[in-house]
Amino acid sequence: MTDSVKGGKMNEIKIAPSVLSADFAAMGAAVEKLEKCGADMIHCDVMDGTFVPKITFGGDMIAAIRRHTALPLDVHLMVVNPQNQVRFFAEAGANFITVHREACGENLKNVLRLIKNCGAHCGVVVNPDTPLREVYDCLELCDMLLIMSVYPGLGGQKFIDYVLPKVEEARRIFDAQGIGKDIEIDGGITEENVRRVKDAGANVIVTGNTVFKSDDMAKTIANLRTL
Ligand code: DX5
Ligand code: ZN
Repeated sequence: MTDSVKGGKMNEIKIAPSVLSADFAAMGAAVEKLEKCGADMIHCDVMDGTFVPKITFGGDMIAAIRRHTALPLDVHLMVVNPQNQVRFFAEAGANFITVHREACGENLKNVLRLIKNCGAHCGVVVNPDTPLREVYDCLELCDMLLIMSVYPGLGGQKFIDYVLPKVEEARRIFDAQGIGKDIEIDGGITEENVRRVKDAGANVIVTGNTVFKSDDMAKTIANLRTL
């Protein structure tokens, strides 16, 4: 398995396709196909129409997806006041719940603790313009750090290069602490740029359009893992 970490603990590359690009009317089949094609996790984009303009789905969809796969469900909450929601998502079967720094403000650490208390792994998400220093104090508490490489809200956008130094900085911090924490990257990942995000230190690769628009999903997932 490819290793994205130079020092510290090894971090396995995991491919987390985003069902935002799936046919919502055939979600069960889409998730089963992703599992059969070698996905490591299922990334579920929850949008509330306030934190981002669009609305996708809530906890009932996570519960429905849960019935179609044994893979870990990685729930990315693009919602305001996520503290009011995390319990529903944990009960629905989410294994990872990530919340935005920009949505939590001063309450971030409490929200992360709440996620853990609900029995899920927790993560913090930073938008492309949010510097890592805004989350330094909660990195220890997080099981995962999610760095957005597009502005949240839409699939199929172009990868933003200037987030790569932030990925490198995060990996340096985790290396210095001797911990191989997962760094997830989300938005605009393709077979062309995936090597660069891994070299920067990301090891959980979210991908919507690249996987769903592919003619050979299994091959694309394998390529994203090994390229
Ligand atoms: C954007 C979402 C992403 C998105 C990724 O707000 O968080 O997960 O679905 O899709 P692609 O890979 O198409 O950019
Ligand atoms: Zn996402």
